[in-house]
Amino acid sequence: MKKVFCLLLGLLLLSVPVTSQAGEKNIALPPVSELSGTDLFQAVKERSSLRAFSEKELSLQDLGDALWTAAGVKTPGGKWVIPFARRTSPTFKVYVTGEKGTYLYNGAEHLLEFVSVQDLRGEAVLQDFAAEAPALLLYVASPEPLLGKDSRPLEEVLHSVYLSCGAAMQNVYLTAAARELATCYIGSIKHGEWEKELKMTPQEFYYGAMPLGYPAE
Ligand SMILES: Cc1cc2nc3c(=O)[nH]c(=O)nc-3n(C[C@H](O)[C@H](O)[C@H](O)COP(=O)(O)O)c2cc1C
Repeated sequence: MKKVFCLLLGLLLLSVPVTSQAGEKNIALPPVSELSGTDLFQAVKERSSLRAFSEKELSLQDLGDALWTAAGVKTPGGKWVIPFARRTSPTFKVYVTGEKGTYLYNGAEHLLEFVSVQDLRGEAVLQDFAAEAPALLLYVASPEPLLGKDSRPLEEVLHSVYLSCGAAMQNVYLTAAARELATCYIGSIKHGEWEKELKMTPQEFYYGAMPLGYPAE
């Protein structure tokens, strides 16, 4: 009887979707594509900042693949896609905000962790075009892994964070070029009360964004 109960409980747990503490659902992303579909040099040539977006919803495959190139983990091997100073764990985080709310990309598990029901696109950037894309990636510096390991002043430690972020930014640009997506790095961000929704630690701060979608026809 006890065995049957354990089996039933196990089956029940297996059928429950991945949920966050708040009870809202995390979103599992499709496995990362094996190939981008475009030669690397071709993508480098075609990389550009595009600022007009179609209203078409971004597919989870394209979103997940772009996030993976920004902050994912390589399999097999388990190493990060992006180089990080002192072989630390990631020194920045990537959130995604859009119509369905706001999520944190978990690169180790390749899923979107629920953060807030709020769509922060209109709050987070100064330029209206960036809020018109179906997804807005928010870059948050998270220097904790370097603190205590690095004797340089925080200002210099942050150079390492931004260098890693530059690599992530370029990977998203190249993925966009390879997949015929539109994106643009945005330094003109807007700070405000909305940032509380990201539940950042005192050491973390928001510093850049990238709208992502399909180009306007
Ligand atoms: C650090 C940084 C900040 C940027 N900030 C903005 C921005 O706030 N708004 C914008 O429209 N483009 C921004 N851009 C994109 C540049 O304007 C763009 O890369 C440049 O004009 C060259 O065009 P291309 O990317 O099409 O080659 C930024 C780029 C970088 C690297």
